Parts: sequence; C-alpha cells; structure tokens
Amino acid sequence: MTEPARIGIVTVSDRAARGEYEDKGGPAIVAELSKILVSLWEAVEVVIPDESDIIQETLIDLCDDEECCLVVTTGGTGPAVRDVTPDATEAVCDKLMPGFGELMRAESLKVVPTAILSRQTAGIRGKTLLINLPGNPPAIHDCLMAVFPAVPYCIDLLEGPYLETDEAYCKAFRPKHAKKRE
Ligand code: MTE
Repeated sequence: MTEPARIGIVTVSDRAARGEYEDKGGPAIVAELSKILVSLWEAVEVVIPDESDIIQETLIDLCDDEECCLVVTTGGTGPAVRDVTPDATEAVCDKLMPGFGELMRAESLKVVPTAILSRQTAGIRGKTLLINLPGNPPAIHDCLMAVFPAVPYCIDLLEGPYLETDEAYCKAFRPKHAKKRE
C-alpha cells in the first residue's frame, strides 16, 4: 500500500503557542491542502512561539526525522521585531527558492497593498521543500493557490512522493517528459 505523503504544518505565533489565541493558521493550511490534494497525505502539525532556535529545531525535526516531503509554516514573516520565520527557515535550508516568495508577494499584492510587508521565502533542506506563508488565513489561501501548481514537480525532483491535485481546483504543472510514478 502507498504510504501517505507527510506534510509538516507549523504555526509560528507567540500567542497561539501560549494558548492565548486559537490557532487559525494551521487549520487553514490543513483545510486548503485537503481541497488541493487528492493523493494520500497526512499532516504533522506543530504550534510554536516566534523563537528562532525553536523554529529551526522544529523545521529540522520535520525534515530529517519526521521525513516530511513538504513543510509549510504560517506566521512571523513580517517586519515586527518578533517576526523571524523566514530568517530561521533560511538558516536550515541548503538551497533557497526565491521564486516562491516573489510569486506569493506578486499575487498577494493584487489583493492587499501590505503584501510587500511579508518576507516569506522557500527553500530546500535535504529532500524537503519548505514554504513560508503569512499568518492571516485568507493569505494562506492566496499564497498556496499561487505556488502549489509547481509544488508536486518540485517534490518529484526531490525524489519525494507523487502528489496529485484536484485539477478543477488547483492544476499541478509537470513538464511533458515527467513520468507519472506509481
Ligand atoms: N498576503 C495576503 N495574500 N493577504 C494578507 O492579508 N497580509 C500582509 C502580508 N501578506 C497579507 C499578505 C501583512 S499585513 C503582513 S504584516 C505580512 O503579510 C506578514 O504577515 P505575518 O507576520 O503574519 O507573516
């Protein structure tokens, strides 16, 4: 039987981690991925504070030990003093994927002028793709819809599981020569 693709979902928020605020970002990512993906997947969900060391340790654990093919963070991408998610992400990546941040900001700018305040980025650690999203649930939708068409092929290139999307909702693009794997 095919193993489910493991996807790490990390809410980075001091208030959510202290329990002062209900985590809305993590559930919004789960809901969005449930609409996008038709192949088998499972979420590994974590809520942590805006602390660089904790963010880095969590991302490393999800990539290296939990063997997630994709890790999506939400929150902490802005300019505020405690916003350190992109910096912590870059610190654990072997390669940066700047096109993701560029596209997410470009699409978000069509919706809200403050989209330029997000420093969100993406990168690769080992065989895992990491993507930062802002904390606001509508931003999670806008940003995932912008970049997800390229995510399955990126994960193919990292030798990860073959992700399939609901084409009516979000059509993944794979070059013609890319072979469908079982
Ligand atoms: N992008 C989209 N699509 N929608 C939004 O509402 N909010 C912006 C920006 N990007 C937003 C968005 C705002 S106001 C901020 S401060 C930054 O994301 C950073 O948000 P974060 O600190 O929650 O990550």
